Amino acid sequence: MEAHEDTQGSVLEVSHLCKSFAGLKAVDDVSFTVRTGEILGLIGPNGSGKTTLINVVTGLLPATSGTVTVDGEPVAGKKPHRVAHMGIARTFQTIRLFHELTVLENVEVAAVSMGHSRPKAAARARELLDDVGLTGSAEALGSEIPFGHQRKLEIARALATDPKFVFLDEPAAGLNEEESDALNALLTEIPVRYGVGLIVVEHDMRLMMKLCPRLHVLNYGKTITEGTPDEVRANEEVVTAYLGSSV
Ligand SMILES: Nc1ncnc2c1ncn2[C@@H]1O[C@H](COP(=O)(O)OP(=O)(O)O)[C@@H](O)[C@H]1O
Ligand SMILES: [Mg+2]
Repeated sequence: MEAHEDTQGSVLEVSHLCKSFAGLKAVDDVSFTVRTGEILGLIGPNGSGKTTLINVVTGLLPATSGTVTVDGEPVAGKKPHRVAHMGIARTFQTIRLFHELTVLENVEVAAVSMGHSRPKAAARARELLDDVGLTGSAEALGSEIPFGHQRKLEIARALATDPKFVFLDEPAAGLNEEESDALNALLTEIPVRYGVGLIVVEHDMRLMMKLCPRLHVLNYGKTITEGTPDEVRANEEVVTAYLGSSV
């Protein structure tokens, strides 16, 4: 496979984003910037607003206030398919596959949804399955493959929409240490190979500290800090709120 040539690059800007549910501030004034080719880790305790933030950015939920832009173009307020066409893809914390379709068809559908012809979508799907190591399961049903493979399939599906930015919501959940290491290798490659910016939400700190040059930490919907893994590990507020003595 060839490395993606990203001569210009794009930038995703989340600015003062807020999302309230009946008075609960699930996302409270969060701002960050990601460029294509970068990996940003998004961490924080359960309930700190990570999934809600992804839901707002990808158009599943309206923002209460704040803006999201890709290269200066507003994303917030657009419907999910419009957001996808603007180059933002995601995976789900709870895997959402078409169980009755084959692994290959699951990826094809995503490519077709972006306007690719059936033959072009099929070719792209085969390429992506090869990249994530699922070629051997192409004809199996989505429901038949092991859980770890379903997670990879979700990533292939997100990539099939030709995104500029991909949000991964807990891609290592339920994986063992060996699978988590393999995922680390796969995710490390993605920004280079596809020229995308990755935003990874994950509790597996062993994975995150290796994978992410930069971590953005949330607690109760608010940003505590953003920094390198070393900076974050040394931040007392982060240790108290989230890391404890685990790293
Ligand atoms: N659709 C919803 N309606 C009401 N409250 C919600 C909804 N989605 C999430 N929340 C609440 O928002 C907060 C953040 O949740 P979530 O974004 O799922 O956190 P995380 O992904 O960091 O675990 C939690 O208190 C959760 O209960
Ligand atoms: Mg979540």
